[in-house]
Amino acid sequence: MEAKEKDSELFNKIISFCKRRGFVYQSSEIYGGMSAIYDYGPYGVEVINTIKALWWKHTVQAREDVVGVDSAIFMSPKVWVASGHVAGFSDPLTECKKCHLRFRADHMLEEIGVQADEKMSEEQISEIFAQNRDKLKCPSCGSQDFTDISKFNLLVKSNLGNFSGKWDSEPVYLRGETCQGIYTNYLNILNSMKVRVPFGIAQIGKAFRNEITARQFIFRTREFEQMELEYFTKPDEEMSEYEKLKETRWKFYTEVMGIKEENLKWYQHENLVFYAKDAYDILYKFPFGWNELEGLHARGDYDLSQHAKFSQKDMNYTDPMTGEKYVPHIVEASSGVGRNFLMLLSEAYTEEKLENGEQRIVMKFNPKFAPVKVAVFPLLRNKPELVKAAKEIFNQLKMEYNCEYDNSGNIGKCYRRQDEIGTPYCVTVDFETLEKGTVTVRDRDTMKQERVATTELKQFFSDKGFR
Ligand code: GAP
Repeated sequence: MEAKEKDSELFNKIISFCKRRGFVYQSSEIYGGMSAIYDYGPYGVEVINTIKALWWKHTVQAREDVVGVDSAIFMSPKVWVASGHVAGFSDPLTECKKCHLRFRADHMLEEIGVQADEKMSEEQISEIFAQNRDKLKCPSCGSQDFTDISKFNLLVKSNLGNFSGKWDSEPVYLRGETCQGIYTNYLNILNSMKVRVPFGIAQIGKAFRNEITARQFIFRTREFEQMELEYFTKPDEEMSEYEKLKETRWKFYTEVMGIKEENLKWYQHENLVFYAKDAYDILYKFPFGWNELEGLHARGDYDLSQHAKFSQKDMNYTDPMTGEKYVPHIVEASSGVGRNFLMLLSEAYTEEKLENGEQRIVMKFNPKFAPVKVAVFPLLRNKPELVKAAKEIFNQLKMEYNCEYDNSGNIGKCYRRQDEIGTPYCVTVDFETLEKGTVTVRDRDTMKQERVATTELKQFFSDKGFR
């Protein structure tokens, strides 16, 4: 019997599972931890590397019209002025006048069921906040006395290059989104690569935001990774390319990543920034509710025109066939690695009651996302001939798949451990291996075991389709 919840209890179980089983740890935990910053442990890093590799393969390698970049985290401070982040990249902040804790006003409104879209203007949120003041309570001390809303800029400042201790110009920021490194390389790529509009530039990398409140584990963090595709189009083709991009990204989640369609949906933003033509989010049904997984935006020529204005560089593209000259319009798909990771854990986490009454936790990852593909154990750890044979099999397989060798000797416990981290197959080496050259291969989901010749093992796993 399978029990699968979608609620906060499930979420708490996933959070404790992540630490207990080496997927996610809090940053600098031995020093008390850093709020809203996390480290990925040995199994977590395998999963996020797979997410990024799959995204890259389908977004860059599989396409002739997309190239990749890896731009620096530090950029000219002028980038963030041109992009509008210095003036406008802020969240609505309110402070409890009694205990002085700070909150995001739109999140407080959400808690009492009042919709406040992240993309609403500060003025709109202030108005809704004022209308609902009597219903709002400080989650910490219960006070209802809050300051008026102020704008809190999310850019993270650094002291890079500030040797005098005084800023005589703008501070250098840690980048707030990776796409700015794409826009600033648009001319370089145009001049050094054989690209023709329409074409895309993709990047995976870290971004930093001074998020006011730490909420929902790795869902909203102050340091996170983005996977962004900026696609440069002819002005009159922007919306048709946007529709294509939406379709591609939906298929990526459902067909490539294998996410259940009932757990995904579209959300169209009503409150658009002045230059945007359209903005959709792909939402995932996280254990704490529907929330943004990825944002897709039709951005017009805003980004390149702003950088042209502030850098004084000509961002026009000249069509080699027609001679037509224009600043390309951009459609964007931007997804968070951590949110993809949390989605995979939410899809996979399962508690099952077995026929013998035992309970097992099993991470039913699609095998391509499982951090360990094959675990190998000797039936008994004190039989050197079994240990030797098991090691040989492990050594044979480990360059093909990520494998784990475990010689703790208690097969039942080994199976439970591997079920918990989602290992699709366990190989046990026993006395029949020595006599007949076969091993037991146990399937994570069915728990059925079959005998496979050691010489057939590689083929057996490659027939299963994972690598
Ligand atoms: N360049 C567009 C852009 O950055 P965004 O909606 O601010 O758009 C895109 O972010 C994606 O980045 C989000 O859908 C989410 O997956 C991820 N993301 C944004 N802020 C995040 C945070 N504080 N923690 C984790 N992921 C975040």
